Amino acid sequence: AKKVIIDCDPGIDDSLALMLALASPEFDVIGITIVCGNVPTGLGAENALKILQRAQRLDIPVYMGATQPLKRDYVSAQDTHGMDGLGESALANVTEVRPHMGAVSFLNHTLQANHDVTVIALGPLTNIALALQQDLTAWQHVAEFVSMGGSFHSPGNCSPVAEYNYWCDPDAAQQVYATMPVSIKMIGLDVTRKIVLTPSLLAYAQRVDPKVGGFIAQITQFYFDFHWQQEKVIGCVINDPLAVAYAIDPSLCCGFSSYTTVVTDGIALGQTISDTANFWQRPTNSLVLTEVAAFRFWQLFLNRVISAQEP
Ligand code: BDR
Ligand code: CA
Repeated sequence: AKKVIIDCDPGIDDSLALMLALASPEFDVIGITIVCGNVPTGLGAENALKILQRAQRLDIPVYMGATQPLKRDYVSAQDTHGMDGLGESALANVTEVRPHMGAVSFLNHTLQANHDVTVIALGPLTNIALALQQDLTAWQHVAEFVSMGGSFHSPGNCSPVAEYNYWCDPDAAQQVYATMPVSIKMIGLDVTRKIVLTPSLLAYAQRVDPKVGGFIAQITQFYFDFHWQQEKVIGCVINDPLAVAYAIDPSLCCGFSSYTTVVTDGIALGQTISDTANFWQRPTNSLVLTEVAAFRFWQLFLNRVISAQEP
């Protein structure tokens, strides 16, 4: 199995992504690092522990990282994910195990000691930027780096042009694209917007597996309501699980290689710019995924996360 570290800000869709990773035999999740994003870091760590407890995987360590973006004031996404980050689901905190400090040193020590670790980032890139600042050489050995964030054709979800993770900490995103020694697999809104949890998919999950399907319904209700209020659509876009699915099966998405950078000020704050025509003559630093086999994503997700109950 591939060793994987998931850097995240759980978060409703981060939680669904963790559930997929934990249910996937291709992955050995060796740690979860938490960054401030959807919710403050302490709350994100509690939520990660809740997901680990449900999966009976409290043996996986959770490390807390950055509590604010590199330069800008922190803006959470509690309007989208609920004050608790899990759609106001009021789940009790885990008490048996506590999160550790030191996400950034955990990342760097692990990457120095093992040359086969995949890192999947599902939140703002603050922890990753700090890790690169502290020890760039550790990242020369990363097997693969996948980041959910940015967009190419798609409009933003925080401004007309910016996606939340990169908008929340644009300086970190810019630094990561400028310094990451390996090509960044960018799972942006072009592909994640196509991953819509519909009422019929949810009903199916609940029928097949009342426990897990019921839990998904519980944490996504708030998200459904948010999408209805904002856009008058029934269903919710879930972004982060696609980044995990892509690391499992790269044939799910395709796109193009290019030099990508992130805007750090002005009205386009947080926007990704990918230089497809090579105007800037910079070496390629990213694989920008723009097409997705959404139906195959759902087959993979549901086959793994929900399991048929004994009759
Ligand atoms: C990203 O922002 C967060 O709200 C989600 O968890 C996802 O990582 C989508 O823009
Ligand atoms: Ca996230």
